[in-house]
Amino acid sequence: MDRYLVFGHPVRHSKSPFIHTLFARQTQQELEYGLAEPAVDEFAHALRTFFDQGGKGCNVTVPFKEQAFTLVDCLSPRAKRAGAVNTIKLTDDGVLLGDNTDGAGLVADLKSHGVTLADSRILLLGAGGAARGALAPLLAELPSELVIANRTHTKAQQLAAEFHDLGPVTAQTYEQLAGPFDLVINSTSASLQGELPPLAPALIHTDIAIYDMMYGASDTAFISWAKQHGARQTMDGLGMLVEQAAEAFTVWRGIRPGTKQVLRELKRNLGVI
Ligand code: ATR
Repeated sequence: MDRYLVFGHPVRHSKSPFIHTLFARQTQQELEYGLAEPAVDEFAHALRTFFDQGGKGCNVTVPFKEQAFTLVDCLSPRAKRAGAVNTIKLTDDGVLLGDNTDGAGLVADLKSHGVTLADSRILLLGAGGAARGALAPLLAELPSELVIANRTHTKAQQLAAEFHDLGPVTAQTYEQLAGPFDLVINSTSASLQGELPPLAPALIHTDIAIYDMMYGASDTAFISWAKQHGARQTMDGLGMLVEQAAEAFTVWRGIRPGTKQVLRELKRNLGVI
């Protein structure tokens, strides 16, 4: 049977096996999908061993995405832009192809929630790997403006300069931000420390869409905060997780699974509904 897995550390709580097993059942693909948690300095060896032993493809998550970028034989254009690889496929020619489906997953999830990206003013919080992966797919949707704000302003400036050729992207400090924005995307890891990005409450209004790439069994700190200040449309990163997985599955198997039912089952599994 064709073998796939996700590499990460820690990875025990990954939902990827659950999601891909449901995709396989739904599309009647024969495959198995597992977990691998190599020590941080043993990822390269573990990856090589997996493919030497017949593995067909894998996902890569924190903290290995940047390393995976350097280990594959060739990169898709979107992985090159993201500077990170979350999906690897062994092609029929024996080539390890590195791809990145995170940004496409974000855009697909935003669209499935009915969020309009064309001609919109988007505020992206954070300038780490998650923000970098989102930029090209967001700019491809032709927003009127995309502003990056980051605690360390120089990182936002660097990122804006790097993606300037793809669309109207600028960097502003949190203090400089002036609304109204149509969509705010939180790509920071602030909630992992129970913190909030230092965003002025005045930027939140009833018609704004709020997206947090994080997710949990209950509202993330950022979503709770945005609701308190009047946001009516809030979305967490669970849908992005399922959509990036669907995109990876499509890369591997050439067949696109449906995501709605899988997202519902995942929510049930997490105790969200
Ligand atoms: P990821 O790959 O998930 O993006 P990362 O590369 O470590 O992770 O980036 C984390 C992002 O969250 C950074 O933009 C970070 O800001 P700095 O560049 O200033 O470090 C941001 N971040 C983390 N904690 C934050 C906090 N408490 N408030 C605001 N931003 C925070």
